[in-house]
Amino acid sequence: MPDFLIAPSILSANFARLGAEVDTVLAAGADIVHFDVMDNHYVPNLTIGPMVCRALRHHGVTAPIDVHLMVTPVDELAIAFADAGASWISFHPEATHHVDRTLSLIRERGCKAGLVFNPATSLEAARYVMDKLDFILLMSVNPGFGGQKFIPSTLLKLREARRMIEESGLPIRLEVDGGVGAGNIRAVAEAGADTFVAGSAIFGAPSYAEVITAMREQLALAAGPA
Ligand code: DX5
Ligand code: ZN
Repeated sequence: MPDFLIAPSILSANFARLGAEVDTVLAAGADIVHFDVMDNHYVPNLTIGPMVCRALRHHGVTAPIDVHLMVTPVDELAIAFADAGASWISFHPEATHHVDRTLSLIRERGCKAGLVFNPATSLEAARYVMDKLDFILLMSVNPGFGGQKFIPSTLLKLREARRMIEESGLPIRLEVDGGVGAGNIRAVAEAGADTFVAGSAIFGAPSYAEVITAMREQLALAAGPA
């Protein structure tokens, strides 16, 4: 079985007690912390910056922090997040002028680098930089808000991305973000994803542990991508 990672998106957490929320969700069995950065420019919403990432590290969070940049321009903020303790940093290729350079500057700072594709965006931008990617993130909703419905065509796109990764022979993870929960995580895994972001499905539930356990039970039933 592939090594599946569950990445709760803190976008749906209670920001008034963020440190405790992150502690609770990690104790409930989450693997990594998904950290959504929105700039009210690339996406029509505004969230949190590097100071909050650093604050989580100072609070004692040691799990990987997976920073999803929905911002333009990208480079300066990517560097600021690397300095603030981010572990994974991803960005949308259309949000930067020089994708290859941005990927390199993330890796040079010791972070894992990822490209994020919106629902209608082709995977083409990944083709010539596969050797510079640690993960590919497919959006299964339009970026900007939590709590949206999973877009079903993502399943086809996941298969395509999985094929590209297999053909490259490189250890690139395949992450999915938006509308994922216990009800569809198995189908998403069977389409090729190995890393699952879930915001409202986890933070909107009374027991984070129950949801994460239900997700893992579904993942245990998943067959490999056909
Ligand atoms: C949307 C964000 C997601 C969001 C997912 O732009 O990138 O990470 O928090 O939330 P859910 O799981 O509620 O769709
Ligand atoms: Zn995200």
